[in-house]
Amino acid sequence: MLPYLSEYFGNASSTHRAGRDARSALNAARDRISAFIGCSPAELVFTGGGTESDNTAIFGAAEASSGRGRHIITTQIEHHAVLHACERLEKFGYEVTYLPVDKFGQVSVRDVEAAVRPDTVLISVMYANNEVGTIQPVKEIGAIAREKGILFHVDAVQALGHLPIDLGSLPVDLMSFSAHKLSGPKGTGALYIARSARVAPLLYGGSQERKRRAGTENTAGIVGFAEAVKIFEGARYEMQQKLEKLRQEMVMELERRLGSGGYVVNGHPTERLPHILNVSFPGVSTESLLMNLDLAGVAAASGSACTSGSLEVSHVLRSMGLPEEVTASAVRFSFGRTNDEAQIAAAAEAVQDIVTRLRR
Ligand SMILES: Cc1ncc(COP(=O)(O)O)c(C=O)c1O
Repeated sequence: MLPYLSEYFGNASSTHRAGRDARSALNAARDRISAFIGCSPAELVFTGGGTESDNTAIFGAAEASSGRGRHIITTQIEHHAVLHACERLEKFGYEVTYLPVDKFGQVSVRDVEAAVRPDTVLISVMYANNEVGTIQPVKEIGAIAREKGILFHVDAVQALGHLPIDLGSLPVDLMSFSAHKLSGPKGTGALYIARSARVAPLLYGGSQERKRRAGTENTAGIVGFAEAVKIFEGARYEMQQKLEKLRQEMVMELERRLGSGGYVVNGHPTERLPHILNVSFPGVSTESLLMNLDLAGVAAASGSACTSGSLEVSHVLRSMGLPEEVTASAVRFSFGRTNDEAQIAAAAEAVQDIVTRLRR
């Protein structure tokens, strides 16, 4: 990224040499990322992150299809970037069905099918949940959307790099991504917009990104996004094995230290991301746990990391219908490529000390 903050400082829209250098860096980044997810480079729009991608998909699809209908289907466990955008649309006369999930955090394909109405214009379901890691049946839901001619948006912010994404075979029209979930730079993302999908822009101004997202592109951020993809691409299998192993070790350590009655793992037992572990310690409050973990040097989160400033009960765990002692004591550990086994052992030891002390 560094050369694109100093040496190649041109604006990708400028026709001079410096601008052309920036443009070719953007093109190379677009080629790499679109190849990674199986779409054409022309179908990838760079954005300022996952939130902007989600907002563009929801508002853009709603606006472009408003002549056909004003009903949207989504789930209760989406990220707030989707939920709050849908709530905003309700203020403008749209109707939104927020589908519940089962105790593992998975939405039912049958529920989606039953919710479809003649005026449904958009279905938005995430690929995998950011709090509990549960993977959603997006292929099956996409098939329903295709059959009924409804636009299908998938928030794949947590899935990119961890689950295989091939847009050539997935029945999806819009898909959101964020670079920092792959250890890339924050504030950079992308939205896949299928060639056939009609979506109005969220931002108006210049004709960047083929008039789908006005504003000078963040060249350094986009170069960093592509570099993160390159690193993941080269080591996807090893990375997945490593993260899965770290997660398993954390669970084994908790079992050894607290016993099976001492903790509860939330989320789907098999249909889940490898790098997220949501776990409750009944009898201890999330807030005290997080404060004490932070003092011990362990960075954990409650609810979505993006909103961890507020410690209300997570909307995801609430929708899963879990008992209060579980929802009120949940924390999320996420594992990254720089973590190692010694850190897992240290984190589990800190959890044991804190939980034992707080329970006493
Ligand atoms: C599933 C999901 N969607 C959207 C977002 C928002 O992405 P960003 O922080 O890049 O705006 C996040 C962030 O954590 C997320 O986990």
